[in-house]
Amino acid sequence: MSNEMLNHVSEANASVRLGPVQQLIDGRWVDSASGETLAVESPANRKVIAQLPRGGAEDVDRAVSAARKAFTAWKSITPATRGKLLLRIADEIERQAEPLARIIAHETGNALRTQARPEAAQAAETFRFYGGLASELKGDVLPLGDDMLSYTRREPIGVVGAIVPWNAPVILCAIKIAPALCAGNTMVLKVAEDAPFGGLFLAAICQQFLPAGVLNVVTGFGIEVGAPLAAHPGLGKMSFTGSTAVGRGIMAAASERILPVSLELGGKSPVIVCEDGNEDRVVQGVAMAMRFTRQSQSCTAGSRLFLHESIYDDFVEKLVRQMGSYKIGDPLDEATDMGALINRKQFNRVCGYIQDGLDNKDVELLTGGLPPTSGPLAEGYFTVPTLFRSTSNTWRLAQEEIFGPVLVAIPWRDESDVLRMANESHYGLAGYVFTRDTARGIRIAHQIDSGFVQVNQGKGQILGQPYGGFKQSGLGKEFSLGSMLDGFSRLKTVTVNLDI
Ligand code: NAI
Ligand code: MG
Repeated sequence: MSNEMLNHVSEANASVRLGPVQQLIDGRWVDSASGETLAVESPANRKVIAQLPRGGAEDVDRAVSAARKAFTAWKSITPATRGKLLLRIADEIERQAEPLARIIAHETGNALRTQARPEAAQAAETFRFYGGLASELKGDVLPLGDDMLSYTRREPIGVVGAIVPWNAPVILCAIKIAPALCAGNTMVLKVAEDAPFGGLFLAAICQQFLPAGVLNVVTGFGIEVGAPLAAHPGLGKMSFTGSTAVGRGIMAAASERILPVSLELGGKSPVIVCEDGNEDRVVQGVAMAMRFTRQSQSCTAGSRLFLHESIYDDFVEKLVRQMGSYKIGDPLDEATDMGALINRKQFNRVCGYIQDGLDNKDVELLTGGLPPTSGPLAEGYFTVPTLFRSTSNTWRLAQEEIFGPVLVAIPWRDESDVLRMANESHYGLAGYVFTRDTARGIRIAHQIDSGFVQVNQGKGQILGQPYGGFKQSGLGKEFSLGSMLDGFSRLKTVTVNLDI
């Protein structure tokens, strides 16, 4: 990346060099058609990081036209050539990983060491993974005898519309851009208004290697620029990550034109700890599954904890100690484990859930509670890890996605009861089981109604393994070869009579 692109020194923190703060349309960095902007603030101190173009329908139109124009040439390049470009992009992301990670930490409030650096590294790996899979975009031949040639071919769909949220903004961009472009599509990506700069920095790296118009990025509010994108007649496919409520609207808009959609939505994933799970490694696994070091702003978070009653008190004591061990503070500080929530709306929402727990006579606060109202943490949207004891799986805190570090621990006795409770949810994204009896762990895993279940660990998505939710957690898979083939290409059958 040229130094020119890195010229924007943040006022809030001089150690963060932003890349472009404009939209990318047809290979050029541009303001919104209206000239309007919106302020993006740092969650850690509420200071304005930079102004962002407040895009709208006209910007979407321009971006989709550019992507349509670029499609003809891009789809004609061989997959192997496109794959090579992705591999060069991966190398460049790796070279720029540190500035990218600092942008992520600054704009999301996610801690640099625990979250932002791994995210930047994973973005590079994502481009490398899909770049290496380009030659898998192949078809089959059906043997019908010497006089017939009948085969399938994988074709790109056209212009892919992509909308991403702010919680892991760069990896969520990468997981859409890399497979979509590898398969020969072009893209109009809408980055999140709360954390747009990591995605724009990533786009700037991509743009060094891509023809103009192959990747376009629009910015602004969901309703003003996201909705016109989702409704645009020029799209061939829509890929959305975010809330279930908005996902529903995306699907409704797509139904007008029978547009294929993939949706990666919310979760309220169960964590089941069996009687033999009263161990430190399990405590750590549970804490990791809950993603405390991302302030639990993760769709995959294991946010309903089912503890066997025989170990409940002892386990909770250990967990409370673990939850109190995180250093909370400036996301850019190397010592920080846990940063701030993204914005005031989410902060107020999470505090509302905590207040609800405090007001509920049937539940007990075990640690945490409402965030401090004075001192350094009050300067940003910081919250503290919070644990409630509850016997019910049906109240609001046990059913709704909180997207903050608020965990509910529910005791269980019989396996059938815990499985019933685990599956008592509209969501079905992830699940976690902890037991030394691996056969039992697998049995339970098979009965959890979720798309991604882990036994004896609480880690994140794995490149190569299809990731995606059941029930209202979504539609379609990401992170795998299959997701590129099924999600970003279409299959055509060609049958040729050779007997002429
Ligand atoms: P959101 O779903 O409103 O935002 C996600 C993306 O969609 C953003 O880029 C936004 O600008 C865009 N968007 C919003 N309204 C739109 C519309 N009408 N048409 C097209 N695009 C639109 O999520 P939000 O408001 O940031 O967070 C609310 C809740 O959603 C969270 O508390 C959490 O429960 C859930 N969420 C889930 C995520 C996941 O990874 N599955 C990520 C972010 C939020
Ligand atoms: Mg919203």
